[in-house]
Amino acid sequence: IARAYHEKVIAHYERPRNVGSLPKGDIDVGTGLVGAPACGDVMKLQIRVDDNGIISDVKFKTFGCGSAIASSSYMTERVKGLSLDEAGKIKNTEIAKELALPPVKLHCSMLAEDAIRSAIQDYQSKRAKLADTTQKSFIDVTRSGATAGSAAAAHTSQ
Ligand code: FES
Repeated sequence: IARAYHEKVIAHYERPRNVGSLPKGDIDVGTGLVGAPACGDVMKLQIRVDDNGIISDVKFKTFGCGSAIASSSYMTERVKGLSLDEAGKIKNTEIAKELALPPVKLHCSMLAEDAIRSAIQDYQSKRAKLADTTQKSFIDVTRSGATAGSAAAAHTSQ
């Protein structure tokens, strides 16, 4: 069994899935950029979220060891099609188990857990800012709408 898991790490490492970048400025894209203090390795993971709150696209770039690359590659496949809630609950222990990482490599899978959380947070804070702006312009529209409405009502009552 250990051998099969080991092959999974190699498979992800040799042919990583979903390598690349999404446009950071897109409003439906969340970017997570995290580092492992233990070794200095860095992982960038990005998600694109559709109108239903489902992760529709994922990309990563990892400057790190083979286990970190395999962990991030695995994570991209794992979260595609999930809601943000579901994706945020994925634990590094699941990745480590799936890839049969030895204890010394546990922090590599932690990087993938941190990266998806950070991408979700980035997406949510972008949406919150957008909602704030939308709400403000909605209030403006409502105000001018109310004026027009009362003018019309005043006209009708005459
Ligand atoms: Fe640090 Fe793998 S991420 S050794």
